[in-house]
Amino acid sequence: MIDEDKLIALALEARKQAYCPYSNFPVGAALLAADGRVFSGCNVENASYGLTMCAERVALFKAVSEGAWKFSAIAIACGEGACAPCGACRQVLYEFAPDLLVIMTDGEGKSRKRVKLSELLPQAFSPTDLGEKGSG
Ligand code: THU
Repeated sequence: MIDEDKLIALALEARKQAYCPYSNFPVGAALLAADGRVFSGCNVENASYGLTMCAERVALFKAVSEGAWKFSAIAIACGEGACAPCGACRQVLYEFAPDLLVIMTDGEGKSRKRVKLSELLPQAFSPTDLGEKGSG
């Protein structure tokens, strides 16, 4: 059972740590692992703009580096309105959790949208295409 309010609260908390002096667009994410752990992330920008890392990938990479490989939901908190994860983040998340529930909210946690990752990234390229291992 996902405590959606709690996950959103953690994404909003992570958003406060965003390092975004160039875009002034803070993003926070909270990724719920199958074992109950939650990994949070914020966007981390760089003077060399292209090196910027999104909040969702920070959360995912933190999780994998801590031994979590299975995930059930991610909450993403953006600015004025709920925003969807970028294409790169969709692909990286899909590797581990095609069925991930994506909860999108604004910077105050008011508006909410819920969608499955597989709907955000239809006909995705995945580990199964390599014929090596299945994900999820
Ligand atoms: N950003 C994220 O953190 N996640 C997304 O899914 C979309 C964009 C960040 C990257 C950059 O620091 C800022 O938002 C503006 O694009």
